This record gives sequence, structure tokens and C-alpha cells, in this order.
Amino acid sequence: MSDLHKYANLRLIKTFGRLKGRPLSKNQKLGLALHKQKYNFFLETEKKIWLEVGFGNGHHLVELAKRNYDKLIVGSEVFENGVATACFSLFQNKIQNAKIFHGDVRNMSNLFKRKTVDRFYILFPDPWTKKRHKSRRLLSSSNVSYFSKILKSEGYICIATDVEDYCIEIENTFSNLDQFERIHVSPKYKNLNFFLDVKTKYEQKAINKGLSPSYLVYKKV
Ligand SMILES: C[S@@+](CC[C@H](N)C(=O)[O-])C[C@H]1O[C@@H](n2cnc3c(N)ncnc32)[C@H](O)[C@@H]1O
Repeated sequence: MSDLHKYANLRLIKTFGRLKGRPLSKNQKLGLALHKQKYNFFLETEKKIWLEVGFGNGHHLVELAKRNYDKLIVGSEVFENGVATACFSLFQNKIQNAKIFHGDVRNMSNLFKRKTVDRFYILFPDPWTKKRHKSRRLLSSSNVSYFSKILKSEGYICIATDVEDYCIEIENTFSNLDQFERIHVSPKYKNLNFFLDVKTKYEQKAINKGLSPSYLVYKKV
């Protein structure tokens, strides 16, 4: 059994909140049906894979797919309403280069086969601010080592957060890992070579509250 398969069998600490929200609208129900028929993730592609973890309502994912038709944009999300909204939006926008994994990113066993991901986007992951919940953070060192295992060399991990102490924790985690080079010069500068000029729902919420998010980019060397 490979290290990655062993990893997949470990009991995973829950990094997310709700799995379901309000009853699905008609469009969201169609979105879920489309997920099964058209957008369900499977790993058969010649294209480079960019993986967005925890895409929420999928607004950023759809834009990423529109602007990068030469890549396969894969999204992973546990929240059913988010999966449903994103799939409906992919359909409305006639997107052909996107697939959705409905579930915990750490259970994407197809990706375990080899280093498959060229780029990660992890935007405004749940911050778990209470001290007793901090072990749930998606960017814990054990989860980062999982992301690193499926990331190709020369690949990037692009991260955004509006929580200062999470940003510091992430910076510390990556600075302890020899295989990553810090690309961002200042977290407060959003480098449009890596990040889109569109705002995610949680990014907009943070800005409305007067917060100044951090944007971090690490390269696997
Ligand atoms: C705070 S929301 C941010 C959503 C979106 N990225 C944005 O910026 O608006 C974090 C999302 O990550 C998802 N999430 C958390 N842990 C996850 C995991 N292990 N696998 C997939 N999705 C996860 C949650 O369900 C939630 O929708």
C-alpha cells in the first residue's frame, strides 16, 4: 500500500462546517443532476489540472475555467448547496473544462495514483478561530503534506485568508518545508499573475467588514 493510500485510510479531522443548507432551489436540483451526468470528477485528461479546494458557491471556479480553457479546473466541496449552485453555473456558462468532486478533498483517491495537480487554489478556508477548534484548519501541516504529495514539482499553492493568525500559521508551516519556495513578497499584495481579479463570496465579505485579506503563493521546488 502506498503512503498516499495509507494516508487516505487515516481518520480525517473534520475541516468543514455544514454539509447541507437550505432546501435546494429548482436550479440547484438541476445542478445536482448535472453533477452526476456531466461534471462528476474522474481522472482522465491530458490537460494540466488546477484544483480549487472548498470552492463555496463556485463563482471563482467558473471564472477560472472560463479564462483557462487549456486547463482542467477541478473543484472539491463538501457543501451540497455549493456543489449544486456551481454545477448549474458551469452549465449556464457552457463550461467544458471543469469537473467537480462532491466531498472532502482528502478523499479524492483518484489523485493518489501520482503527482497530478499543477496548481491548488485554497481561498478563504474556514478559519476555525476558537483555540479548541484550531486542529480543524484545512492548512494544518498534515494536510499541507497531503497537498504537497499530489502537487507536481514546479506547481503552485495559492492561498487567501482574512484571518491574521491563520496567515501567520500558514507562513510558519510552509517555511518549515524545504520543498516549498515562498513566491509572494508581501501577503497584502494580490498578485494577479496567480489570483483572478474577481472576488470570492468570503473575500467580498471580508472587504465589506474593512478587513484586508492576505494572498500567499508557494511553489514546489
Ligand atoms: C469559508 S468557505 C469559503 C468558500 C469560498 N472559497 C469563498 O472564498 O467564498 C470554506 C469552504 O471550504 C469547504 N471545505 C472545508 N473543508 C473542506 C474539505 N476538506 N474538502 C472540501 N471542501 C472543504 C467548506 O465546505 C466551505 O464551503
